[in-house]
Amino acid sequence: MPKFVIQGGRQLKGEISVNGAKNAALKIIAASLLSKEEIKITNVPEIEEIKRLLELCESVGSRVERRGKEIKMSTPEILTTDLAPELVKKIRAALLLIGPLLIRKGEARLPHPGGCAIGERPIDLFIDGFKRLGAEVVETEQGYHFKAEKLRGATFVFPIISVTATEVLMMTAALAEGTTVLKNAACEPEIPALAEYLNKHGAKISGAGMHTITIEGVKELGAGEFEVMPDRVEAGSFAILGALLGEPLRVNNCRPEHLEALFVMFDKMGVDYKLGENWVEVRRFSPLKAVNVTTHEYPGFITDLQSAFTVLLTQANGLSLVHEAIFEGRLFFVDKLKQMGAQIILCDPHRAVINGPSKLHGRHLESPDLRAGFALVIAGLIADAETMIDNVYQIDRGYEKIEERLRAVGAEIKRI
Ligand code: EPU
Repeated sequence: MPKFVIQGGRQLKGEISVNGAKNAALKIIAASLLSKEEIKITNVPEIEEIKRLLELCESVGSRVERRGKEIKMSTPEILTTDLAPELVKKIRAALLLIGPLLIRKGEARLPHPGGCAIGERPIDLFIDGFKRLGAEVVETEQGYHFKAEKLRGATFVFPIISVTATEVLMMTAALAEGTTVLKNAACEPEIPALAEYLNKHGAKISGAGMHTITIEGVKELGAGEFEVMPDRVEAGSFAILGALLGEPLRVNNCRPEHLEALFVMFDKMGVDYKLGENWVEVRRFSPLKAVNVTTHEYPGFITDLQSAFTVLLTQANGLSLVHEAIFEGRLFFVDKLKQMGAQIILCDPHRAVINGPSKLHGRHLESPDLRAGFALVIAGLIADAETMIDNVYQIDRGYEKIEERLRAVGAEIKRI
């Protein structure tokens, strides 16, 4: 299994470019199965999570042609409505295929997706939402069987906000009969991007990006082309790295308007940054002030940046509180930062108090999940001596060739 070996303490400087958004590309790839026609998707990141979803799409009948960041895919026929357990286990985004299978074949079988390192991750909202659209959902020992001769538009109120459940119901309702209204829907930027993709191919969706989304069902979606938006988590991850290590580090090809909550925190901490239309430049400015942060649905502080931001807080002066409000497993990685010398008290699964600044020391660690894995990489970059990180598959799931891109701005990191 590959590992990263990092020599800490190097000064980073230069420009780093952001790739297409994982969490937008996954949804657009899945939505392409709603149509029989060929769809061309550009700016698709070359990451493990996308490869796994493409394998799953191929397993149900998609033809995929990939050239670098461009994918051409078509699904003239759905060959099976059974999602393969060995693939579903590897990728939670398998849930995205339920809608296309139900719309095109009237049924879908989903093996139990299970929890993961960041939390229990139930699927009750998907089940309730599909039932509301007229599907029957039966739970068996093997998993879930979704069945519907016809899906009909309805009003569904989300009891809590869920990004993927909003996207799944929105894309399915695009081809259900009649009007669907989703209330208390998620507003993350990937949702209006998915609606734009669907509308461009014939859907009638309004309100995406706000809490109420209205979808007028249409009969079919056509062929077309779509470019994936820049990844706001990657952009934020690099901006945080700049705040830790730079000489100026310029993050190119991003949309700074998607990171406003991060910049509010930078302002409070005294981080030095400049914004352009599609770039942000950040440099280390000490001393940094401690802050309290709570993760929140968009446009609040994104949970996917919590772990990298926690590393930044280990370098701030005073006591900071991190409140991870979305997932119950996303703070356990602070144990690894403590092994490196950070002073952190994990009060409960949702709250950690950090006393900074602390000198971090190189250690041999394991990456527990994607975002915590990246956080350990940046902790290794500011630590003294050598840090070794196992289980880098977790990092490859979401960050493309991260070691090469970090080396290009001065990091000493290699994959062995
Ligand atoms: N939830 C339920 N029931 C459900 C669905 C969700 O209780 O049926 C709960 C979750 O357990 C969680 C909360 O609702 O406590 C919010 O989760 P949400 O459904 O919004 O998360 P998600 O759609 O599964 C997406 C991203 C995550 C990101 C979250 C929050 C994708 C593929 N994943 O997950 O990204 O953290 O939204 O913004 O879009 C990552 O990229 O590393 C990642 C985990």
